[in-house]
Amino acid sequence: MTARVAIVGATGAVGREFLRILEEREFPLDDLRLLGSSRSLGVRLGFRGEAIPVEEMGLSSLRGMDIAFFSAGSSVSREHARSAADGGCVVIDNSSAFRMDEDVPLVVPEINPEAGKRHAGIIANPNCSTIIFVVAIHPIWKMSGIRQAVVCTYQAVSGAGAGGIRALQREMEGAQSDGEVFPHPIAHNVVPQVGDFSPDGEAEEEAKMERETRKILGDPAIRISSTCVRVPILRAHSEAVHLGLGRALSPEQIAIALRVAPGVRLVDDPAGSRYPSPLPATGGDDVLVGRLRRCRAFENGVALFLAGDQLRKGAALNAVQIAERCL
Ligand SMILES: NC(=O)c1ccc[n+]([C@@H]2O[C@H](COP(=O)([O-])OP(=O)(O)OC[C@H]3O[C@@H](n4cnc5c(N)ncnc54)[C@H](OP(=O)(O)O)[C@@H]3O)[C@@H](O)[C@H]2O)c1
Repeated sequence: MTARVAIVGATGAVGREFLRILEEREFPLDDLRLLGSSRSLGVRLGFRGEAIPVEEMGLSSLRGMDIAFFSAGSSVSREHARSAADGGCVVIDNSSAFRMDEDVPLVVPEINPEAGKRHAGIIANPNCSTIIFVVAIHPIWKMSGIRQAVVCTYQAVSGAGAGGIRALQREMEGAQSDGEVFPHPIAHNVVPQVGDFSPDGEAEEEAKMERETRKILGDPAIRISSTCVRVPILRAHSEAVHLGLGRALSPEQIAIALRVAPGVRLVDDPAGSRYPSPLPATGGDDVLVGRLRRCRAFENGVALFLAGDQLRKGAALNAVQIAERCL
């Protein structure tokens, strides 16, 4: 079976990654439509040796399409996704527009592929920090349950899109921060704000990590507290994770489970200074997990460090895997 596929937001940081991944994985498509805003008119993007023109997104752009990967922000998804789904196109949405809607499955194929099969036209791709987190903790959660998690993230500027990459590159060349993408300078700095703050001081990204993890695992009792931090690197997010388990597991038992877990690569050789970090995670499909050890702050506590390419597994790759495994 081949499909007619559209990428909405094809010129963005995630959109361009979609093109690479569809090509690498030889996704069975017989028509590829690339859509963006009027700013992208005249742009052509390469795919399988062809230069495909980007069209301006309009009301009829998705007519006749079987699958649309939406990657143009929540407002574009809210405006177009439901009508595309009503017209028979399956929407796989990268934005946060529908993630918590009851009729929209929130899917990580290594964890809950069956949920994706029960869609009503829209399937949501989780937040990038959440995807790489759940891929790493799911094997542990299956063995022992997880009562609580404390997570600190180190998030690459490309998590804020192509504008985030440009902002860091400009500042590294000496330009002043213009405050457009990040609220403070990002070169030679870290910024403990990813998204807007709620009245109680939690940033949007931090709230997403708890509510989306609960929905993906189907575990409303898990308590997650996170601090999400933007760091001056171009690509791949990292996370320091501390877990309180439902029953005691040794780091060795966890390592055995992670070694065979889909989507995970155990990189854990403290004596050889081998552990996950963003550079080796960049461009790869797996979430790297290491620094496995006991955590004394929690009963049955374990700690780990992970790194994953958030433009791939945290966004485009996960969405393509949903199309491959759930449709
Ligand atoms: N970056 C990540 O790591 C990441 C991870 C997970 C999820 N996401 C989500 O993925 C989506 C895209 O993120 P990104 O990082 O790729 O952002 P980006 O680099 O800023 O790209 C945004 C894309 O949306 C298009 N767009 C903007 N307004 C539009 C409109 N009115 N109509 C049609 N297209 C429009 C842009 O087209 P023009 O070039 O024509 O402006 C561009 O192709 C967002 O919803 C984001 O939250 C991002």
